[in-house]
Amino acid sequence: MAILLAFGARDAKPWMSALREVDDALDLRIWPDCGELRDITFVIAWYHPAGLFSTLPNLRCVQSLGAGVDHILRDPLLPPNVAVARIVDKSLARSMAQYVTTAALNHLGRFPSYQKSQLKRQWQPLPPIAASQQTVGIMGLGRLGATTAHALRQAGFTVQGWSRSPKKLAGIKAYSEEAQLPQFLANVNILVCLLPLTPTTTNILNAQLFAQLPRGAYVINVGRGSHLVEDDLLAALDCGQLSGACLDVFRQEPLPIDHPFWQRKEIIITPHISSVTDPQAAVRQIVANYRRLQQNQSLINAIDRNRGY
Ligand code: GLV
Repeated sequence: MAILLAFGARDAKPWMSALREVDDALDLRIWPDCGELRDITFVIAWYHPAGLFSTLPNLRCVQSLGAGVDHILRDPLLPPNVAVARIVDKSLARSMAQYVTTAALNHLGRFPSYQKSQLKRQWQPLPPIAASQQTVGIMGLGRLGATTAHALRQAGFTVQGWSRSPKKLAGIKAYSEEAQLPQFLANVNILVCLLPLTPTTTNILNAQLFAQLPRGAYVINVGRGSHLVEDDLLAALDCGQLSGACLDVFRQEPLPIDHPFWQRKEIIITPHISSVTDPQAAVRQIVANYRRLQQNQSLINAIDRNRGY
């Protein structure tokens, strides 16, 4: 039995060292040096090379390197009986909460406007807005969404959430299901997307949804690029329905050099850094899963392949 690290977009070496620290007897391989393909039962994947899974006859589990599993599930050649697990980790949730709170406070404090004034050497105070007067609406109340909701509440914002299935979170008004989406959106000043990417949530951030927000709302997308219809965002910014956006994820990453988002002053772009898994923090649960697989035990943080998260 061997573990294959198949990373399309991340350096595998720190992961090798962290895995070896936990168990130096592990048979670890880094794609494309897979060795004998039939040895591989467990793949640790992050934007893996297309077609890989179908070449591994004894594959039993694909472990995502991060919280999202969309990059694994969208592979049509993932055999149906292979289990899929994701990382659930406090440091991942904390870093997401920190990113979103920073983005929301940056918008609330009008730092982008002050920077524009600065470039024109203009001393131009704007009327202050209290965080409590701003409602942040979080779409997706899983582990990352719940931690982020609490951090925003501590920063003073009024926070509410929306999720597919009903959730209860202290101090946070929770809406659920398609039917309550309009009610949820109606008073959201800052909308945060932390949904998993599934066929139902793809393109959910679109013109029709933006039109249901109060005029001048702000959007923070830390889910996946494919949640957002990019042209609809640009149109909503052009007509003032949205005042700005902070985007960490994109349909194509890295964002192509000629993409219109680069030029937009109302958009803050960060290169998919809102929560990056720390090898030291995550390897124990990965090795535990590998051992559980060997002992035919159920996996930690396994996802429901039918549901997509
Ligand atoms: C990051 O995007 C993750 O899925 O962990």
